[in-house]
Amino acid sequence: MPLPDQIAPSILSADFARLGAEVDAVVEAGADMIHFDVMDYHYVPNLTIGPLVCEALRKHGVTVPIDVHLMVTPVDGLITDFAKAGASSITFHPEATQHVDRSLQLARDLGCKNGLVLNPATPLSALDHVLDKIDMVLLMSVNPGFGGQSFIPQTLEKIRQVRARLDTCDQPVRLEVDGGIKVDNIASVKEAGADTFVCGSAVFGSDDYAATMAAMRAELARI
Ligand code: DX5
Ligand code: ZN
Repeated sequence: MPLPDQIAPSILSADFARLGAEVDAVVEAGADMIHFDVMDYHYVPNLTIGPLVCEALRKHGVTVPIDVHLMVTPVDGLITDFAKAGASSITFHPEATQHVDRSLQLARDLGCKNGLVLNPATPLSALDHVLDKIDMVLLMSVNPGFGGQSFIPQTLEKIRQVRARLDTCDQPVRLEVDGGIKVDNIASVKEAGADTFVCGSAVFGSDDYAATMAAMRAELARI
């Protein structure tokens, strides 16, 4: 079941000293949602931002969906805190929680969309038994932890395989891809079956956010 394309700029590559203005700028430039990368220097070798920053963005007036990507372990406490802080969707890595089904349900019980994140080497069997309980699958096309890495080309085949599995679901499930997406490869990511595109350095590293996202949309429209 095809869903409309969505572009999700990752604020990991934003200027954190001016975060509110940066988010306003990408929303003005056409972002469908804000991708919010949470790293704990434990699950991944980097440390970023937590629920206080999410809440601050909501207080600043951000109304677009905030898509929280948890790269932390354990996850349940932060699912609760981010739901309270205004997250719209919360995804986590299945190996980072003791009880995947419980964590998925927790996010939904708190009014958020949920999803599982698969690292480049995580097998698709991580989706077994939960496909009817998730709103999105986030496929990593780089190893998690840093912005600005190169897209791992083998991801395209993995996207196709996830797409085939999601097409068997009764309910629509978003297929989001995260890492190394640029104007020159976003079309191939869509062609493989993705509908949601995380773009960090490609957007925030450009001089003109609107022009970059317009170029991405033009590429998506070709498929
Ligand atoms: C990596 C993060 C990504 C990252 C993407 O661990 O999950 O969301 O910000 O950045 P780019 O688009 O620069 O690869
Ligand atoms: Zn991410």
